[in-house]
Amino acid sequence: MAIFLDTGNLKEIREFLGMGIVRGVTTNPTILKKAGIKGGGKALRELETAIAALIDPLPLSVEVTGNRKTEMRAQAREFASWAPNINVKIPVHGPEGELFNLEVIHRLETRDDIRVNATACMSAQQGFLAALAGATYVSLFGGRINNMGYNSADEISRLRDLVEDHGLGTKIIAGSIREVLNVLEWLEAGAHIVTVTPEILRALAVHPYTKETVRMFLSDSRHLR
Ligand code: E4P
Repeated sequence: MAIFLDTGNLKEIREFLGMGIVRGVTTNPTILKKAGIKGGGKALRELETAIAALIDPLPLSVEVTGNRKTEMRAQAREFASWAPNINVKIPVHGPEGELFNLEVIHRLETRDDIRVNATACMSAQQGFLAALAGATYVSLFGGRINNMGYNSADEISRLRDLVEDHGLGTKIIAGSIREVLNVLEWLEAGAHIVTVTPEILRALAVHPYTKETVRMFLSDSRHLR
């Protein structure tokens, strides 16, 4: 699995997909707002179905846009009906700490046969509960964890141990990336997947000394043409 792309930009998804280095895509309302997506549910459906078709059979995460219990369940069913490779992002709890989100996650996974990505987890303990509830994916927000003064790699590693020790099938997605070094750091810590912005992925690939070396090869090639 390794690398997912954290974006709603079709052009960039197509570009990295063509390189064969992306194994899925994650989106959220903030990413879509930044990408300039407006037009309500119709625009959301158009974009997400286009991404799902483009990356099929790779997985795409689409996040619910409200936090009422019935609303999340109805949206999850609707999003999942758009394409077989869509999974639904449900925050691990609500804005006031509402815990019925875990119940929604459990019901979607066990009764509705819908794959869930339990998102906005800021600790191994939250991720563990979401994994116990049956979430297919648990998204640990590494950059935000670091910004709170905790160590993201430690949280990822603790969660991976818990997932393995308790025989849970959950895949850990480390997200909220801030630095290039987070990608390998989080994979080495035990994340199954790191979801990466196009900017970070570009920076991960390009090295100044590689540029210089390739320039040398091209310059010296002139004598061989
Ligand atoms: C993960 O799936 C999220 O979409 C994302 O990585 C959140 O990152 P942020 O902290 O930059 O909002």
